This record gives sequence, C-alpha cells and structure tokens, in this order.
Amino acid sequence: MTFSTGPRGPGVLVIEPMGNAGRFLVEAADRLGVRLYAATHKDVHDGYPDWLRTALAGVCATDLTDVPRALGDMAAFCREHAVAGIAACFELFTPLAALLARRVGLPGNDPRLAHAARNKIRMGEAFAADAIPAPRWAVVHDAAEAHRVARERPDGLGWPLVVKPAEQGGSWGVSVVDGPDRLGDAVDAARRYTRAQPHGLALDPRVLLQEYVAGEEYSCDTVVASGVAYPLPVVRKDTTGGRYRVETGHTCPSGLPAPVAAQVRHTAARAALAVGVRNGIAHTEVKIPPGTGTPYVIETGARLPGDNLCEVVEAATGVSEAVAHLRAVLGLVPDTVPRRADAAAIRFLLPEHGGVLRRVDIPDLPGTHGEVHLRPGDAVPEPADSTCRIGHVVARAKTPDRAGALADRVVARSRVEVG
Ligand SMILES: Nc1ncnc2c1ncn2[C@@H]1O[C@H](COP(=O)(O)OP(=O)(O)OP(=O)(O)O)[C@@H](O)[C@H]1O
Ligand SMILES: [Mg+2]
Repeated sequence: MTFSTGPRGPGVLVIEPMGNAGRFLVEAADRLGVRLYAATHKDVHDGYPDWLRTALAGVCATDLTDVPRALGDMAAFCREHAVAGIAACFELFTPLAALLARRVGLPGNDPRLAHAARNKIRMGEAFAADAIPAPRWAVVHDAAEAHRVARERPDGLGWPLVVKPAEQGGSWGVSVVDGPDRLGDAVDAARRYTRAQPHGLALDPRVLLQEYVAGEEYSCDTVVASGVAYPLPVVRKDTTGGRYRVETGHTCPSGLPAPVAAQVRHTAARAALAVGVRNGIAHTEVKIPPGTGTPYVIETGARLPGDNLCEVVEAATGVSEAVAHLRAVLGLVPDTVPRRADAAAIRFLLPEHGGVLRRVDIPDLPGTHGEVHLRPGDAVPEPADSTCRIGHVVARAKTPDRAGALADRVVARSRVEVG
C-alpha cells in the first residue's frame, strides 16, 4: 500500500504510530520535512484516524507479531522507499525496531538489550547489571507461588507489595497490595493480559512482585544519539493512592531542587543506556523515597512518553521531544536545549466509579485547553488503569505551582456525570 509521496525529505519508518505520541511524531515530521511511513497490520491501518492516515507517505502492511516476516517485509519496504530512520512508538515493538535498524544498517538501539525496555523482568536484570537503584523483585507464575515467595523469600520484599504484569503499560494489571489477603486477586489481575491489542501480540504471562518504593514520583525523558545521552527536564507525576495507581497529572518543571533534579536526569540517562537505547528516546519513571535524594527507577520505555507529555514539556521548555527523537533516529544531533523557562501541567478527569458517561463539560479558562476522551453514552471503566480517563486539561503559566493550580481549577469546575 503506498499513498501520496509527501515532502521529499528523509523518510522515517514508524513501527505502529497509533497511540498518544503518534500525533506528536506527525507534527514533528511536518516541521522537519520528514516523510513518515508506518509499519502496521492492514486491519489496524483500517482503523487509523484521518489525521494519521493522511499524514503518512506510505504504509508497510505486515504482521508485526510474526518477527521474521515483519523484518523481511519492513527491510524490503525500507529499501524501496529509501528510508533513513526507524522509530518505534508503541512500547511492545521497540525490540522489533532495534532488530530492523540493525538489519538495514540504520541508527538504532542495541538489539541484545532492547527486550529489557519491553519486559520488566529483563529490565530488572539490566538495572541490576548496571547497579541502577530500582525496587527489588521476584518473578512468579501464579497466586500460589506468589504466596510462597511473599512468605519465604529470605531477603523479604515486605508489605505493601506491587504486583504487575511482566509486559504491559498504562498501569493495566498493576496493583499495590497491603497484605496476603489480596495477593491472589492481584496476581490473577496481572495475568489477565495474555495478548496486547490491537495486534494480538502474545505477552509474557509471568508476574512481578516488587518491593514498594515510597515517595514522590517523577519522570524524565532522555534522547540518545550515537550512544550519547541528552536528558530532558524532569516532570512531576501525580497518581491516585491506594490499590490502583492511575496518573492524575504531570507538571513541568518538577519543582525539585536543582541538585535532586540533576540526580534524576543522571539516573534516567543511565536507565535508558542500561536497556540498550543508543539512537532514540526513553521515558523513565522514578520515585524518590523521603529523606534519601536517591531516585529509584520504576521503569523505562524506549519510546516517546504518553499522557500528552510531549505537549507539556514543549509548552514549558520549547523542546520538542518528537523532533529530537526523529533527529536521533536519523543519526543527527538532537536539539534539547530549553528555549524558555515557563511551566505547564496536565490533569486528567477520572471517574469516581465505572458506569456510562452521561455528561462531560470542561470549562475554557484563559491559559488552558481541555480535551474529552470519552463521549456521553460511552462505557467508563472502573478507575483501575488509564483507560478510565474521561478527558484532560493542559494549563500553561510562569511557574509549575501556578500551572498546576490553574489546571486543578479547571478540573474542579468541570462537570462529569457517570451513571
Ligand atoms: N515498585 C513500586 N513501588 C511503588 N510504586 C510503584 C511501583 N511500581 C509501580 N508503582 C506505581 O504504579 C504505577 C504503574 O506502574 P508501572 O509504571 O510499573 O506500570 P505501567 O503499566 O508500565 O505504567 P504506565 O504505562 O502507566 O507508566 C507507577 O507509576 C507507580 O505509581
Ligand atoms: Mg509506568
């Protein structure tokens, strides 16, 4: 399938551009004069929104779950269209992007380590190998084994424990468990995801039990070009408390004292390199236990961030992560120098419970804009993971406190009715 040829700049093949960061990649490609191609399944392409379909210079239709076939199809496509860069957008395909880049001789990540950016068990091993502070963990296959490990493990993970699938995102199947009573249910919930849609990719069915890391949470993205890491500003992340940790918002800059922010950036860059990122971008999440100043890495993904963080970071700093990512995969030096010192915050509208959306109304306040994700009549999932979000608000201001307060005010004045 090939559509219009578009601008005649260098071509970048994106392995599945569907997802939150896809629109930022499209915008960035437009700014850079890059021809953007997608590798996807024909059925998935049929469901692409118009803005994505029309932005693409061409589509490599293949089966991304069949690695030998996908590599063969995409390599032939790269040759035919003189593709000069490979980018993954969807976390689960980041190892495939590394393999393709190696195969066609383009800048990419280290294929020997790339699986560590997809699979949290391999990630734990990669962090341990590089002595990166991270929660202790154990792997279990079912609830009975989880009970045994929680009881008997000599170094003890303690309570609460975090239970999560080996491969998944969006907080799906992640829960914080206070004691043995809920452990079985949590393991079953983490094991529920055996395939990732929309491609039906088979997932590692194993479950991680992780030591709970207390403290505030932050994220920091790192652009890596030819193995050189360029960490971006730190973003503060807010989540719900309790059993399910769903993001409620992000704020940039983080408000951390400069030396602690520098420590987060340094650790995030180390985490990106530990999972094999060499030409691309990584999104790293950390928690800082009170009184330690030491960031513990919760996870890192070899992809652009979700949650409209590209928009938040650019509004605050003037740095386009998507432009930097495209430049890195093309083997060019990324521009990560902040152009301004403003602030921006995003807040998500979450329901108190699941049901059917009856009404959603986000007021327009100066310096803010809102977007609804669900429409009246849509089913609203229980607030257990990111699929329950009804909408979001982005606010810009001169300081992170003001940006956060402004976004909070819009959320407080929004009307959400779930029946
Ligand atoms: N070991 C831990 N200690 C404390 N909190 C944790 C731990 N692991 C996960 N969490 C909390 O649960 C959230 C989701 O976990 P994690 O990031 O591992 O899953 P995910 O599905 O990849 O999430 P997402 O894609 O939403 O970032 C984290 O952002 C954090 O708030
Ligand atoms: Mg996460």
